[in-house]
Amino acid sequence: MAGPPLTERRLAFVLGKGGVGKTTVAAALALGLADAGHRTLLLEVAGERRTEALFGMPPSVDVPVEVRPGLHALSVDADRATQEYLTIQLKVRPLVEMMARSRAFHQVTQAAPGLSELVTLGKIWDLATAVQGGTPVWDRLVVDAPATGHGIALLEVAGNVRDLAGSGPIRDQADAIERVIRHPAATGVVVVARPEDLAVTEAVEAVQSMRAKDLPVTCAVVNGVRTSPFGAAEVDALRAVAGRPGAPDADRAAALAALAVADGAVHDAREVAGLGRDAGIPVAVLPVVPDLSPASGGLEALSAALMSDPAIGGGDGG
Ligand SMILES: Nc1ncnc2c1ncn2[C@@H]1O[C@H](COP(=O)(O)OP(=O)(O)O)[C@@H](O)[C@H]1O
Ligand SMILES: [Mg+2]
Repeated sequence: MAGPPLTERRLAFVLGKGGVGKTTVAAALALGLADAGHRTLLLEVAGERRTEALFGMPPSVDVPVEVRPGLHALSVDADRATQEYLTIQLKVRPLVEMMARSRAFHQVTQAAPGLSELVTLGKIWDLATAVQGGTPVWDRLVVDAPATGHGIALLEVAGNVRDLAGSGPIRDQADAIERVIRHPAATGVVVVARPEDLAVTEAVEAVQSMRAKDLPVTCAVVNGVRTSPFGAAEVDALRAVAGRPGAPDADRAAALAALAVADGAVHDAREVAGLGRDAGIPVAVLPVVPDLSPASGGLEALSAALMSDPAIGGGDGG
């Protein structure tokens, strides 16, 4: 893949199927970037509001909340952002407020194709380009994107608007956003998957689909990868015990349990290799951690693993 490593791009989108660990990976990445000295904003746009729970902080819907030194978190509420957008476009706040109070508002905004993606991306754009005292407010923005299809729609919406808008300020604005979203020096997309056949197949398809659309897919993260402390010689020894006629039941049971750990690690390593091969991108791996609650150290462990992975930081990962 052309372009710098993910950690050097200002805007990172974390995509993947629901439940694979997008929010966790986005938080771990944002934490790592902040620890590396970048003023970082973690943006949650899927409406789940989970990042606060990860950091043990109150919700942050309007104003970014500093959840760790140098790391702020913000949830973008698509409905609220749509109201803001319509207020600016229609220049009549009372009208929009009246519309927003109506129960039909949500249905209307959901029914207008791409409107929710457009305002969400516009919000991300405003934050990404915010400047104070001559310097950008944020060095890095990590977007915890909606599940795969909606996430890709979010990345595509500026291009669609530009193509539809004819000429004029909306076209120019959409074009500017589109060029940054597609530029591999500015933007990177991370695809998160679990080490399972179906999940890997879907991740490969997502990568291929984004590549066909010229979106800057940068790397993948396989989350929840099992490892084994047993080397090849130990596995042979375990097999010998498990298969030895007359071995005590407890020995056999212990050997089989240890072999299951070794087999799990082999299985997951195969899935990781398959994803790298079929998608043709660098793949980082994250272990399962026992606890992700704030102060458990789980998120910090994932962050350290992610940042030291060459697939994320480039080079030898140092
Ligand atoms: N590496 C991991 N180790 C342990 N638990 C994890 C790990 N990654 C995710 N989880 C847990 O799995 C669940 C789903 O993760 P989440 O990040 O919310 O997924 P998504 O945002 O893709 O829906 C959460 O309960 C989260 O705490
Ligand atoms: Mg999530």
